[in-house]
Amino acid sequence: MALSDFDLVFFGGSGDLAMRKLLPAMYARDVCDDLPATARIVCVGRDAFSQEEFLRFVEKNSKPHIKETPADATWARFLQRIVYVALDATDAASFGPLAEALRQDAALTRVYYLATPPHLFATICDNLARTGLATPNSRVVLEKPLGRDLASARQINLDVGKVFAESQIYRIDHYLGKETVQNLLALRFGNILFEPLWRREWISDVQITIAEKIGVGNRLGYYDTSGALRDMLQNHLLQLLCIVAMEPPTSIAPDAVRDAKLQVLRSLKRFTPTTLAQNIVRGQYRSGHIDGQAVPGYRDEPDAPKGSRTETFVAMKAEIDTWRWAGVPFYLRTGKRMADRLAEIVVRFKPIPHSIFKQPTSSFQPNSLVIRLQPDEGLSMNLMAKTPGDSMRLKQAELELDFREQFTSPRMEAYERLLVDVLRGQLTLFMRGDELEAAWEWVEPILEYWEQNDSAPLPYTSGTWGPAAASALIGRDGLQWREEA
Ligand code: BG6
Repeated sequence: MALSDFDLVFFGGSGDLAMRKLLPAMYARDVCDDLPATARIVCVGRDAFSQEEFLRFVEKNSKPHIKETPADATWARFLQRIVYVALDATDAASFGPLAEALRQDAALTRVYYLATPPHLFATICDNLARTGLATPNSRVVLEKPLGRDLASARQINLDVGKVFAESQIYRIDHYLGKETVQNLLALRFGNILFEPLWRREWISDVQITIAEKIGVGNRLGYYDTSGALRDMLQNHLLQLLCIVAMEPPTSIAPDAVRDAKLQVLRSLKRFTPTTLAQNIVRGQYRSGHIDGQAVPGYRDEPDAPKGSRTETFVAMKAEIDTWRWAGVPFYLRTGKRMADRLAEIVVRFKPIPHSIFKQPTSSFQPNSLVIRLQPDEGLSMNLMAKTPGDSMRLKQAELELDFREQFTSPRMEAYERLLVDVLRGQLTLFMRGDELEAAWEWVEPILEYWEQNDSAPLPYTSGTWGPAAASALIGRDGLQWREEA
């Protein structure tokens, strides 16, 4: 469905995210003829580029991130949409050129995408209000990190809320734009099969893993003040957990889904210093090998502070105190420089109560459902089946659904999907303010505990599945991470 006309403003418009993700996402929509001829992309930055210089900058820094090399004509058409505006986001007096670049038509969709460090959110919103650019029908998109603790997240909500109503605010978690995450909604609420089983009576445990092979790259400045808990767990992993665990929402309407997710966040069992020490493992990568290549340890990355205690890995056992989930462990894990790049959710069902075959009950692998987000998108269901032949021997077999094979329609990258939703005014895949605060509220005692106890992360060799303590954490319950089984 083609979009209606818009002015889309990227603050941080010459930054890394704009070049790598946002402009390529808009190009992908343009190439599908989804963008109205007059739709505009206004890139705002501090650098004093002329329009021509900026377009050359885009050519050099953004074009290489487009999957299929653009044809000259479509690329030229795309560039024509882009306007560069240099301004100082902290100085309302410098917003004049932005006002000039925007069309004064109340029927147009106007979006401000703040791909800037979060300390600028308040100032930018305030300056948009002062200069009359924050109109009642404009929308604002907030890019992560959305705070570094509960207080700063609340402050962001408060500051942005002074200028924009909640219904105008789009808080991005790009994991919600991933196709398989939305497919999880389809799986749970488009089939009758799972819902009766989706509870403590039938599910024994859930594992959610986001493992990356990449290290911290050139983001050390940001990452060293953040760490895996803030960077990945507080947002992406908790959002996945919410979608797995939430009660059926009454509809796909934004508040119905967000209310259901909020309930999960508020039902997460709070950690105490004792349960924290037992149920969370933090790690930091040391040198090792990724795909046969030697890679440095975190502390040897360029500009890494000596003896940094920032974690690049975290694993934990969480629990949800509701009738549906009481007693079901949710094992969460994420790390950089791990053995493989993979993001998946594993739902394991309870074992059969009794074997009618000669095989002992213990030889039956419990059924499991694996929902894969990365590297490929798919779903597999593990069942016990008879092996061919004259004896009644059962073995684990896999029912596999490969989304790429099954559906040939073109796919959208996460940012592409989310940008389209912003432009259409669909809030379902964005976090509401209270959700954001509830996630921080749960995570904060962990951060405080680490700070107060001056705890150092455990070292792990790059190219492995993290510190041995992470295997021990799940091993204590007689289980294994799926890749280590
Ligand atoms: C970002 C984190 O939010 O997600 C990065 O800041 C991480 O550290 C990235 O690498 C992972 O996203 P994806 O889509 O590549 O799994």
